Amino acid sequence: MTYRIGYLIGSLASDSINRVLSKALVRLAPEDLEMFEIPIRDLPLYNRDEEHDPGPAVTAFKQAIEGADGLLFISPEYNRSIPGALKNAIDIGSRPWGHNSFARKPTGIIGASTGAIGTAVMQSSMRGVLSFLDAPQLNSPEAYITFKPEIYGDDGSVSDESTAQFLRHYMEEYSALVARVLSSALPGHMGDSDPDVMH
Ligand SMILES: Cc1cc2nc3c(=O)[nH]c(=O)nc-3n(C[C@H](O)[C@H](O)[C@H](O)COP(=O)(O)O)c2cc1C
Repeated sequence: MTYRIGYLIGSLASDSINRVLSKALVRLAPEDLEMFEIPIRDLPLYNRDEEHDPGPAVTAFKQAIEGADGLLFISPEYNRSIPGALKNAIDIGSRPWGHNSFARKPTGIIGASTGAIGTAVMQSSMRGVLSFLDAPQLNSPEAYITFKPEIYGDDGSVSDESTAQFLRHYMEEYSALVARVLSSALPGHMGDSDPDVMH
């Protein structure tokens, strides 16, 4: 069984350390994960006026989210929270009401920063957002990466074996979460009666 996993990079910077980290994660992912990027760069700012007549960038973004078996968020922390570009993308994907593209998608949150706490506060904010959006999350291991540029290659290589081992383990645990969530039974539908009526 192969799972298609979309990853979202929370940084728009061309020299993003989180983009470098994404290459390592793609390379170290187990074979049952087919990784592809879901870009957020060209999305407009969320505007409720446009919800029912979205442009092609929004439509393509929501289709990519819905077509993925799981989602991996690889993001920096900005001012102790979620970068605006990523939060904007999540807001877009969550709407219109009743068409939340993130519902039941198995998710992982990981991030690199130049600081010592390795995106821990951003990840904590993300957990609240993804819980509200009904997206199951990998709870353990947590992955707070203080980025050390000298160990990451542009080709996704990681020269420090203990870091490589940790990232490989993270991706294996994420793969196991995807398998668990996708194999678990959903509640049955409520029959032919009007679901809004309590009997
Ligand atoms: C607007 C802004 C806010 C930042 N806030 C934080 C922060 O709260 N915590 C942190 O560890 N690093 C913070 N940083 C530093 C980032 O960790 C660093 O810029 C990192 O390279 C961003 O990731 P990227 O290279 O993938 O864009 C901030 C950087 C910017 C530009």
